[in-house]
Amino acid sequence: MLPYARPCLTEAEIREVEECLRSGWLATGPRTQRFEEALAAYTDTARCVATNTGTAALHLALLAVGVGPGDEVITTPMTWVATANVVLHCGAEPVFVDVEADTLNLDVTRVEAAITPRTKAILPVHFAGLPCDENALLALTRGRDIALVEDAAHALGARYEGRPIGSIGDVTMFSFHPAKNLTTGEGGALVTNDEALAERARRLRYHGIDQTPENRFGGRGPAAYDVVEAGFKYNISDIQSAIGLHQLARLDESNRRRASLAALYRAQLADVPHVEPLGEAPYAYDHAWHMMVVRIDPDRLGIDRDGFVQGLRDREIGAGIHFVPLHLQTLYRDRARDADLPVATDAHRRILTLPLFPDMRDEDVTLVVDAVRAVIDASARARRGGAA
Ligand SMILES: Cc1ncc(COP(=O)(O)O)c(C=O)c1O
Repeated sequence: MLPYARPCLTEAEIREVEECLRSGWLATGPRTQRFEEALAAYTDTARCVATNTGTAALHLALLAVGVGPGDEVITTPMTWVATANVVLHCGAEPVFVDVEADTLNLDVTRVEAAITPRTKAILPVHFAGLPCDENALLALTRGRDIALVEDAAHALGARYEGRPIGSIGDVTMFSFHPAKNLTTGEGGALVTNDEALAERARRLRYHGIDQTPENRFGGRGPAAYDVVEAGFKYNISDIQSAIGLHQLARLDESNRRRASLAALYRAQLADVPHVEPLGEAPYAYDHAWHMMVVRIDPDRLGIDRDGFVQGLRDREIGAGIHFVPLHLQTLYRDRARDADLPVATDAHRRILTLPLFPDMRDEDVTLVVDAVRAVIDASARARRGGAA
């Protein structure tokens, strides 16, 4: 089975993990400090706080901008459930706004109408690695007491008008899950230019302990500690950071490989009827190509989306669904009952994810596209058989 995603690891990661294990320092320590500094430099930000998952980083990001009980956070339904779950964990409510048909990014033209006196943050997701319209988002948040908290789980290495994703919003989260463009096994990080916000997130990451950097990393500061608020156990280990250091060094190269595979897909899918890659956005950006999402036309193809995915899996192609929109999930159905989300609802009938990862060969793209054609042909034959 060709999976939809696969981590791309080299001897450099393996050697660094081995050295980390031999060093005796496995929890958050010197490798994490180096990884955080490298991520801050890469995203052109002042501070980075690395965590044990992306979900944890997003939870900390929302808490650090002050999201709490009674607040609302405007977000997209076309995302992984973590995006909205962490809003609930803060005691706040996610408010879903529809997506653009072409990119499946939050439709920024609809956000203003969803703002209320309770809106504390806007939480866009750079879907599949294509940056949202940051200028429009900044125009909505600036001058209001609303934070721009970005879910960039898919978008490490992406740029908006030349600026790295991470350097634009008040705080931005990345995920290092094994399917992501950079992995640490599991892991995540937030980046920000706001020192006070970073300090709050750092404290909440580790039980709410007000530590000095010295006793955090070197055991050279005072041994006693003071707990100032009820924080979490969200710190990343040095074993994870050891992997991340070398993943980051190769990220631009592997994102370029993703982009070239995506271009190949687009060329080969161009003459496949009723199967279409997602569209472009009308501003300048560099796509991180986290995923290759395509839309099918189930009515014209005579096969529904789930049948299409199964047809690919029967042919050893590990197609996926990203995502089942959140307003269709049991947890969120009632909460979203007044939301007007026709584009996301329609996308749910159409979207599926084809394999895309840097170690794929060009021939693998052809294998996938051949399987796509075979599923379409089989469906047409079945319909002709049914009609006979
Ligand atoms: C859009 C989005 N947000 C948040 C997350 C959560 O990240 P993690 O799995 O690292 O907790 C993911 C990934 O899994 C994601 O795809």
